Amino acid sequence: TIIILDYGSQYTQLIARRVREAGVYSEIHPCTIPTEEVEAMNPKGLILSGGPCSVYDPEAPQLDGNLLSLTRDDGSPVPVLGICYGLQAMAHLLGGDVEGAERREFGRAQIQFPEGNGASELFDGVPSGSTVWMSHGDHLTALPEGYEIIANTENAPVAAVRNLEDPHYGVQFHPEVVHTDFGRQILENFAYKICGCEGDWTPASFIEERTAALREKVGDRHVILGLSGGVDSSVAAALLHRAIGDQLHCIFVNNGLLRKGEWEQVQKTFRDHFHMDLHAVDATDRFLEVLDEVVDPEEKRVLIGNTFIDVFESQTDEIAEELGHRPTFLAQGTLYPDVIESVSFKGPSATIKTHHNVGGLPEELNFELIEPFRELFKDEVREIGRLLDVPEDIVGRHPFPGPGLAIRILGDVTRERLDLLREADAIFIDELREKDLYDEVWQAFAVLLPVQSVGVMGDERTYENVIAVRAVTSVDGMTADWAHLPHDFLGHVANRIVNEVPGINRAVYDITSKPPATIEWE
Ligand code: XMP
Repeated sequence: TIIILDYGSQYTQLIARRVREAGVYSEIHPCTIPTEEVEAMNPKGLILSGGPCSVYDPEAPQLDGNLLSLTRDDGSPVPVLGICYGLQAMAHLLGGDVEGAERREFGRAQIQFPEGNGASELFDGVPSGSTVWMSHGDHLTALPEGYEIIANTENAPVAAVRNLEDPHYGVQFHPEVVHTDFGRQILENFAYKICGCEGDWTPASFIEERTAALREKVGDRHVILGLSGGVDSSVAAALLHRAIGDQLHCIFVNNGLLRKGEWEQVQKTFRDHFHMDLHAVDATDRFLEVLDEVVDPEEKRVLIGNTFIDVFESQTDEIAEELGHRPTFLAQGTLYPDVIESVSFKGPSATIKTHHNVGGLPEELNFELIEPFRELFKDEVREIGRLLDVPEDIVGRHPFPGPGLAIRILGDVTRERLDLLREADAIFIDELREKDLYDEVWQAFAVLLPVQSVGVMGDERTYENVIAVRAVTSVDGMTADWAHLPHDFLGHVANRIVNEVPGINRAVYDITSKPPATIEWE
C-alpha cells in the first residue's frame, strides 16, 4: 500500500487514481491522521499531496517530522514523495526556505535535469524538456541540508529535489494531472523503483483481499445492509454475500417512489439470482400516507428519511427475533468521494458538505459500521460489481436520489401521478438504451410538472399534464451541463410519451445547466 496524505488539494483523488492505475493499492487519509496510525498501516511508500495553504499561514497543516523517519518491515526507510505543498511542508520543516511568489505560477512548464543529477530514478524514462503542470503560489528558494536539485524549469530553479541518503523526493509540479506529459511515468517510478511495489493490485485482487478480511472481521456474527437497488449498495451486498453468505441480511424497502420495474428487479436479482436473505418490505402505503398533501421539497426529504428509518428499524427487529440476537454490523456502500467530502482537510477548517443522502441511518442504532468501498471510486466499484456478477442493469445505472420519484413530482405526490411519471420515465430510459445514449449521459429522467396545458388529440381539445425530460452530463454531480441529445431523438421521445401515457399531452426538454439550476427539479 502507498498512503497518500491529503493536504487539501483538488488533485488528491487523482494521485490515488494514478497510483492504482499502476496496479498499486493506495489509500488517502487526511493529513491530520496521527503518525502512529500511518505507521500501523505499514505503508510501502508515502505521498504528501498538494494543498491550498502557504506553509506560513497560521492555520496551515504542518508535517510531523516522524513521518520522515518511518521504517518498513525490513528496516529500510519508508520512501516519501512530496507534491507541491507536500514538498514545501517537508522543506519548511527541515529548514529550507519557502518564499511566497509575487504571483502564482500556473500552467505548463518544461523540466530540465541538471548535469549530473538527472539520473534520479524518479525521472527514469522522462525526457528532458517534457511538459509538467505547475499550480502553486509559494516555492522553494533554498534547499534543506542533505537535499539536491534533480529538476528545474525556466521559472522554478527548484522543480524537484531528493534527499542524498533517504528515498525522500519532492516535486513542485503536479505529476498526477494529465497535463504533465510523463506524470504517470513519474508516479510509476516512485511506486515501482523507489518503493519497490509490484503493480499487481486489481479489482479482482481487491475482492480476494476484502472477502478474506471481511470473513475475519465478522467471524460468526451477522451483518445487515440496506439495499436500495443502486450501484453502491448492490455491489456491497454482492461482496459481503460472497464473504459471509447467510450471515448477511439485506433489507429492501419499497417506498412507493421507485422507478418502473425496480421493486421486482431488485428482488429477482438478490433473491432469485444471488439467493440472499432478502427482507423486502412493501411500505408504499405508509410512505404515501406520510407524503399526503406535502409539497415542500425539503419537507418531503425529511419525512421520507424518517419513515425509512422507522421501517428499517422494525425490519431489523424482525431479523433479530429470527436470529435470537441483534446483528452486530451495519454495512454501507459508502464510496471514497462521500468520505472525502466530509473529512478532507481543506485549508483552515475541515469542510463538511451537507450530504443529502436519504437512507442515512442514525447512530443510535448502535451498529458497528462496515464500509468495504470506503477507499474506492465509483468506476472501481462498478468493475468489482461486474466481477461479482451483479447484472449490468444495476452496475451501470445512473444515480438515483434516495427520496426517489417524490422529488420528481412537483407538488403533491399521489399514486396516480407516480404512475404517470413512471411510465414517461421508462419510455425515455428505454429509448436512451435503445439508441446507445444511456452511457453518454450522467443522469436522465422525467419530471412531472404541476401544471396542465392545452393540446389537441384527434378532433378533441385536451387539458392535461406536462412532462419535463432532463438529461445531463457531469463528472461528479456538483456541476452539470444539459445533454445535447439529438433533436430527432428528443422528438421521438416526446412523441412516444404523449401517445403512450394517457394524461400527458406535452413534453418539454430542460436546457439549463447546473449552476444556476440543479440537476433535480426539487
Ligand atoms: P442536485 O439536484 O442537487 O443533485 O443538482 C445532485 C445529485 O444528487 C442527487 N440528489 C439526491 N440524492 N438524496 C440523494 O440521495 C437527495 O435528497 C438528493 N437530491 C439530489 C441528484 O439525483 C443528483 O445525482
